[in-house]
This record gives sequence, C-alpha cells and structure tokens, in this order.
Amino acid sequence: MSQQLAPERLESFVKRGQPLAPFTTWGVGGTTEMLIAPPGREDLISAARWLYGTHRDFYLLGGGSNVWFPDEPTKTPVLYTGRVAGMDVGHDGDEVFVTCASGTALGRVLARSMDEGWSGLEFAAGIPGTVGGAVAGNAGTRIGSIASAVARVRTIEQDGTLKDWRADELTWSYRESSLSCAPRVILDVTLALRRTSENAVRERVRAVLAMRHRQPTGVKTAGCVFRNPPGDSAGRLIDRAGCKGMTAGGARVSPVHANFIENLGAAAANDILQLARLCRKRVREASGVSLRYEVKFFGVPDDAAEA
Ligand code: EPU
Repeated sequence: MSQQLAPERLESFVKRGQPLAPFTTWGVGGTTEMLIAPPGREDLISAARWLYGTHRDFYLLGGGSNVWFPDEPTKTPVLYTGRVAGMDVGHDGDEVFVTCASGTALGRVLARSMDEGWSGLEFAAGIPGTVGGAVAGNAGTRIGSIASAVARVRTIEQDGTLKDWRADELTWSYRESSLSCAPRVILDVTLALRRTSENAVRERVRAVLAMRHRQPTGVKTAGCVFRNPPGDSAGRLIDRAGCKGMTAGGARVSPVHANFIENLGAAAANDILQLARLCRKRVREASGVSLRYEVKFFGVPDDAAEA
C-alpha cells in the first residue's frame, strides 16, 4: 500500500502552532498543534496515509469558507488541501469532463467555464471554497447543488488505497454527502459539464449573482450559518426573531441577511459562537423551530438544546 513518507519531507510542509484564522473566511480561530499543507497531489496522498496510520482524528480543511475554529489552541491535526489545485480537461462531443484537484477553488472552475462556454456550474456563482469541500458538503444554492455536476470522485481510503466513485454510488442530500458523513480525503473530482455558448453561461451566472444581492458583501462571513429547516428559511426565522444587527464583541448578525454573521474586523471566534447560539435560542423561543448549524463549528456539538 503506502510508500513511507520521509520525516524530512513531511516536515517541509508541516507547520506547528499555526494560527487557523488566515485559513478561514471568517478570519477567526486559534492555533493548531499541526497544520499539514501538502504542496501537491503525491504529498497529499502520502500525508493522508501517514495521518490515517498515526492519528485517530484529523480535520480536513479546504477553502475554510464553512468552518469555525475556537480561539483556544486545538490539538487535532489539520490537513489543508488548498495547495493541491489544478484542472485537466477532456471532451466527448459536447460533454466536457473537468477533473479538478481537491483544493482547486470552485470560483476558478466557474471562471474557466464562463471563458469556455461550459454549462453546469452556473448555480455555484458566488460560492467560495474548494471543489473538494464543495463536494463533501454538497454545496449549493436554491437552484442547484454540486451533486448534479459530479461525474466521479477519487478518494484516499482509510487503508491508503485510492478509490473511484461514480456520482450515483455516493449519497447526496441537502448540504451533505456520504463523503462528509464518513470523512475521507478527496483527491480529485471530475465534473461533467456541457459545451454551450459563452454568452449563455455568462447570462446565467449574472442571474444567479443577482439573487445574491440581499447577502452581505465585502465583509468576512462564512456564508449561511444555519441550514434551512424543511419548507422555511433560517434567515427569515432569525430576522423575525429580531436578531438582525445584534452584536457580540466584534461580530454582528448581518443587517442585510440574518443567516450571516459578520466579523466586523476584530471578532473573536467566541463572539461568533455566542451570537449563533443566541440566534438559535431566540428563534426557538419565537417560533419553536430548532435550527441546525450549516457551518461546521469545530469541537462544538450541534445540539439544538444547547445555549
Ligand atoms: N429573509 C428574510 N430576512 C432575512 C433573510 C431572508 O425575511 O434576513 C426571507 C427572504 O425575504 C426570502 C426568504 O427569507 O423570502 C429566503 O431568503 P433567501 O432567498 O435569501 O434564501 P435563503 O433560504 O436564506 C438560501 C441558501 C443560500 C443561498 C440562497 C440563494 C441555505 C441555508 N441558504 O438562502 O446559501 O445563497 O438560498 O440561493 O440553504 C449558504 O449555503 O451558505 C448560503 C448562503
């Protein structure tokens, strides 16, 4: 199975005591004992095999757009995939197969799609993060999610082997996939897109971005904090519970869209968590609905009864 990862090679891309804040879009979070940031595909494979063999638990970090880390130092190693990026393109008639390394920014794939006239990812306009992260969490918007564009996923399994999954061998649901339930390192993802005209793709992207005009921009957020409960909108419920504009330290419930929490500049991770808990409490009191986190609050149980 695994060729050994030479200690000096590992050390070349491990950082100890690394603050996690710069790796998240919220810009908060304390240090991790070990950040492992492989610079390429082969090192990612070796690092995953090493981690599987030596650590019971590690956190897989992509673009950091949907995660919160605590202010306190964490002992859990963090495997960062964001340096493993790139696309390979194959064609079959009008079908375009784009194989993206796990850490490729979704926005880069969308930009290329607009340049080339590839259709299928327009729904993702404005979604930050990496392709691997998007696939694990089945990222999406009201009009679609990444599951619809996935042809194949290649993972690094717990026994160190590489495995190819067709999209229909995985299970997909609202902001979840079987890859998020049983964490596996995603090595690359093949997206199946369709060749159309550049203008058509650009037009659809513009329409999707227009849907986002009522979301905060130019401020640090992690997208929607809570999942939408069935048949309702978490943002609407938080708004109705009177939370818009509420602050805790340097964090604020967005006055633009209540399901976003903004870091106004110097928020502590704890400010954000306090605010999220308060929103959840207020919504439960106002409407009896227990919201569930969409953002991954590292080390915090998603216990609707908390706070
Ligand atoms: N609303 C309010 N107050 C608010 C926010 C929303 O009354 O502060 C109302 C809106 O007026 C609308 C309804 O709630 O009637 C739904 O709002 P919106 O259209 O903004 O959609 P959403 O359900 O809040 C979802 C996704 C977003 C995605 C948008 C657009 C979730 C949790 N949210 O938001 O995804 O961008 O649709 O497609 O699924 C994310 O996943 O990070 C995210 C932001």
